[in-house]
Amino acid sequence: TGHVTLDPGFTNTASTTSAITYIDGEAGILRYRGYPIEELAERSSFLEVAYLLIYGELPTADQLDRFTDRVRRHTLLDEKFRNFFTVFPRQAHPMAVLSSAVSALSTFYQDNLDPFDEEQVDLSSIRLIAKLPTIAAYAYKTSVGQPLLYPDNSLGYVENFLRMTFGLPTEPYEVDPEIVRILDMLFILHADHEQNCSTSTVRLVGSSHANLFSSVSAGVDALFGPLHGGANQAVLEMLERIHAEGGNVEDFVRRVKNKEPGLKLMGFGHRVYRNYDPRAAVVKKATRKVLDILGKSDPLLDLAMRLEEVALNDDYFIERKLYPNVDFYTGVIYKAMGFPTNAFTVLFALGRLPGWIAQWREMINDPATKIGRPRQVYVGPGERHYVDISER
Ligand code: CMC
Repeated sequence: TGHVTLDPGFTNTASTTSAITYIDGEAGILRYRGYPIEELAERSSFLEVAYLLIYGELPTADQLDRFTDRVRRHTLLDEKFRNFFTVFPRQAHPMAVLSSAVSALSTFYQDNLDPFDEEQVDLSSIRLIAKLPTIAAYAYKTSVGQPLLYPDNSLGYVENFLRMTFGLPTEPYEVDPEIVRILDMLFILHADHEQNCSTSTVRLVGSSHANLFSSVSAGVDALFGPLHGGANQAVLEMLERIHAEGGNVEDFVRRVKNKEPGLKLMGFGHRVYRNYDPRAAVVKKATRKVLDILGKSDPLLDLAMRLEEVALNDDYFIERKLYPNVDFYTGVIYKAMGFPTNAFTVLFALGRLPGWIAQWREMINDPATKIGRPRQVYVGPGERHYVDISER
């Protein structure tokens, strides 16, 4: 007792055991519940992956039907909640609106917040998965001054979200099923990533026995930061800046290497991966496909590819084992799909939600869980005595 180890940023300290996600950062391997991310991205669906993460096994057809149906039945927000979106300024960042809304959800379900009642927790999980797309779409609709659409429960999860986001009450909404499929796949890629900053936050908040909504709301706020989920927005802003300044990739990389204050190659580097992020490899392939399907071209994609090539061949990045992470190419896709830059991190949150829920449930059910309470190494003054203000 009395002995503490200092580990800023938890670079070498495990906070928990977990049976959900496995990462081998040296080899660039990511698996959910044992299944390689590449297989899930290609063959599964987002709701199936959500089920897998939360309940531990792939669902049977019946189980998936029932799960999908339960989610479908909870997509509506309480009618009173629609007013909530009108109080924010038009330019409000949707991540701030999202975290406030998730926190506010608990006020509608006050009798169902017991963290140790499995049925209540399950219902809260379903409510979150069902309502997050509705909330995200409403935050967007409010920001562009368009009417809020009710969910259309004849549509699939992702298509419903896209329609609530981009649809108008005056005309039918149509979207290429390939685009729906690719956004679904991007959600799969984001669905969990073991003890990252936002997930650790969700667990830490939950370890005080705070309810699931409060814990997830805190996770959204952690994800907001540019070193975490906010990187997808930061990458696109970086690419736009380089493009506006003439597209000189070599010069930008040189400035990053010289550690110009505030300058980083956003979308590069990772605490755990010392190899190509397996998610980034899948996203990179999808980027070209999305532009092809939509018949668009984007100079920012070519710029990103040149930036990647220059960085991967540069000693600074080689020595530090810095590779593109999941956020490097996603922005180009989201932009092509029509999302404004400040909505990118919301898409990350929609994808990460099942991971937060699964990890929170694992935490609350683990007999080894104690309230998260890190120690510190005190470096302030020793004891000293109060001096009257007239004598200072
Ligand atoms: N550009 C330039 N240099 C970098 C970068 C980068 N993106 N990332 C790391 N480095 C350098 C860093 O300056 C340090 O150099 P030195 O040894 O000379 O001081 C070395 O590489 C080690 O980096 P670190 O900061 O100690 O690594 P970390 O594990 O603490 O940070 C990171 C990981 C993801 C926060 C960091 O790589 C970073 O800031 N990347 C840019 C932001 C980003 O893309 N974040 C998304 C992460 S992936 C998914 C997600 O969570 O959203």
